[in-house]
Amino acid sequence: MAQLICKNVTLGYDGVAVLEDLNFQVNQGDYLCIIGENGTGKTTLMKAILGLRKQMLGEISWSDGVATNEIGYLTQQSEIQREFPASVKEVVFSGFQSKCGLRPFYKKEEKQLATQIMEKLGVDVFAGKCYRELSGGQQQRVLLARALCATQKILFLDEPVTGLDPKVSVEMYDVFQRLNQEDGVTIIMISHDVQTSLEYATHILQIGETIFFGTKEEYVAKLNAEGMCACGCSH
Ligand SMILES: Nc1ncnc2c1ncn2[C@@H]1O[C@H](COP(=O)(O)OP(=O)(O)OP(=O)(O)O)[C@@H](O)[C@H]1O
Ligand SMILES: [Mg+2]
Repeated sequence: MAQLICKNVTLGYDGVAVLEDLNFQVNQGDYLCIIGENGTGKTTLMKAILGLRKQMLGEISWSDGVATNEIGYLTQQSEIQREFPASVKEVVFSGFQSKCGLRPFYKKEEKQLATQIMEKLGVDVFAGKCYRELSGGQQQRVLLARALCATQKILFLDEPVTGLDPKVSVEMYDVFQRLNQEDGVTIIMISHDVQTSLEYATHILQIGETIFFGTKEEYVAKLNAEGMCACGCSH
């Protein structure tokens, strides 16, 4: 069933289009990888989908009972975020904020859920530590736990393994895959790693000079037809 539909969407800044006439659909349980070169508009698209920016043209709609405060997301991390002076627990719990409104405390069920999520992602061991004292990989896990407090339905991940070493990257990809396959969480991930995207994704959205949307198999067939292979070479 469709969770998200983007129809004839054009995005841009100050009246200048960055991305034009985009069409795609995400169904519950899909694992969509959005690929494309630097500056092609991937993060802009994610912001529009999250309702943080308005599209210039077209329609972005949610269905299947997804409320806009039920979307978890992990943004491209900035230096400022890395230095955030809060405890790990505070960062994880802040995932509930969009549901709290003005309520100044967390409910018992929320605390239980946060504890379960932290255990699942292995961040419970440093729950009392200061966030900025963690390594990059540990911080990403904490941010993922935060995103999961916001939702168990749909996760947006903007280059979630950037800056992580190969071993930790594989661990993160395994976590995403488990969430997708075992818990049915829909994953929408922006990535520069086409090969890894093809390993895990069910669907590919390529943006930039060429726009493509389809299943992973259709994308591989397109690459083959163009004489390209997934690693970008043309053997
Ligand atoms: N706040 C902004 N105001 C004006 N232009 C912007 C703004 N943010 C991004 N842009 C421009 O929009 C284009 C797309 O940027 P965006 O950040 O979406 O790219 P991206 O595909 O996520 O790139 P990367 O792979 O480097 O993260 C770029 O040309 C960028 O300069
Ligand atoms: Mg980006």
